[in-house]
Amino acid sequence: MATFSRSPTANAFSFVLIGGTGDLAMRKILPALYAAHRDGTLGEGGRIIPVAQTALDQDGYIQWVNEHVKPLVAMVASGVDDDAWLSFLGRITYVALDASRADDFAVLRDVPGMLRSQRIFYLATGPSLFVPICEGLAAAGLTEHARVVLEKPLGHDLASSQAINDAVGAIFTEDQIYRIDHYLGKEAVQNMFALRFGNVLFEPLWRREWVESIQITVAEELGVERRGDFYDKTGALRDMVQNHLLQLLSIVAMEPPHSMDADAVRDEKLRVLRALKPLREEDIRQNVVRGQYRAGVGGGAPVPGYAEEPGVSHDSVTETFVALKVEIENWRWSGVPFFLRTGKRLAGRVAEIVVNFRPVPHSALGAMPLRAGSNRLTIRLQPNESVRLNVLGKVPGMGMDLRGVYLDLAFDRFFLRDRMEAYQRLLLDVIAGRLALFVRRDEQEAAWKWVAPILEDWNRSPTAPKPYAAGTWGPAAASALLAREGTCWLEEES
Ligand code: BG6
Repeated sequence: MATFSRSPTANAFSFVLIGGTGDLAMRKILPALYAAHRDGTLGEGGRIIPVAQTALDQDGYIQWVNEHVKPLVAMVASGVDDDAWLSFLGRITYVALDASRADDFAVLRDVPGMLRSQRIFYLATGPSLFVPICEGLAAAGLTEHARVVLEKPLGHDLASSQAINDAVGAIFTEDQIYRIDHYLGKEAVQNMFALRFGNVLFEPLWRREWVESIQITVAEELGVERRGDFYDKTGALRDMVQNHLLQLLSIVAMEPPHSMDADAVRDEKLRVLRALKPLREEDIRQNVVRGQYRAGVGGGAPVPGYAEEPGVSHDSVTETFVALKVEIENWRWSGVPFFLRTGKRLAGRVAEIVVNFRPVPHSALGAMPLRAGSNRLTIRLQPNESVRLNVLGKVPGMGMDLRGVYLDLAFDRFFLRDRMEAYQRLLLDVIAGRLALFVRRDEQEAAWKWVAPILEDWNRSPTAPKPYAAGTWGPAAASALLAREGTCWLEEES
């Protein structure tokens, strides 16, 4: 079978969305493509080819998009522009095929423009289908010069992710593979590069001599929603820590890259992941807290406990919360604790990175307030992106009464432009062939390797996770973890 070999023309792409009627397509991918279309960043020659096994035809699919995607798009800040929506629908060509049958993929060759355009295959399916899909695409002669996007979870542990990477890697080269971690597309994560590497102010202080500890929190108010079945087999460690939190950690802790080229950035992140101090059994017992929510309050109303959620087993020991102390064994960070925490049904939705600097070595100003929210940099990813620098200031008047005050960089006050959603940025990057914000195989496997002892320990001794009431900040043990080191989570500061 002849395969595509011409260079694709700029702008002309075929975005094949496999899993075209799934939850991810509906909630994230199609809205992000629409937003890019409306903003004029999508490139005029691009086609969107959703693929699913359902017996829909083109009209039926468009109706599904109108019913399911349009209301979601309408909910986001700038709503739906009717003309833009119609022209967006005009880009869509629906194809029904069974992704588990390699022979079915040949039909994609007949889609107008497919063989002459830059092909992008977005695998918005469960990971068990990744390999059959790639094999089907290869058998149809569609993989040359194409790009493939793999959604998380990419495997369940190191071995399964290696197996997927080996099989996909036998068909696509590494620079054709875009492993998505949507946290890397968040504006504030991008801004961390600007903050750290575009200013001389922070970098000299960004090390063990001046930093006492770092906290990374990704807290969610929502529970497992309709994903109980998936989540019960996954848990917070796999769902959030192995990917999003370790990626954030690697960006906070990395050395300045020599350029923003994909491999320059990814090499530095990899060095951090490889320098994570391995956890022995006693470290896990001491430094890793797992929790599970019980009934409580969510969004102002009573909510059930995790084990009562649909799809979750009643005696489940799956964790919905993890807090852990991590250390990085290198010259810059040796001895500095990084406290990571994530959980569902917590007291609020917030994602932030808190850098606590050391206290001054000697106070010439008399008694210093003990903590008083000073000497701290907080980078907030969500809900409102901001960077806040807490310092000590003097209360006006006689004497030297010191109080914590802050310099506040709230991005929506400086930049009036709409923020770009993480998925929109990342999809535009795939279309343009920019790999810097995608996870390379070695990074992903280094992260799996580091979490493996925790997974093994929990498997060996499936003690129940510590309970916490929905609507709180997690089990008391998570506070004790920091108290042992003489510190506390940000919201616990008085
Ligand atoms: C996903 C997880 O990767 O990230 C979800 O699978 C989680 O469980 C989500 O809710 C959180 O993303 P965000 O962007 O809403 O913080």
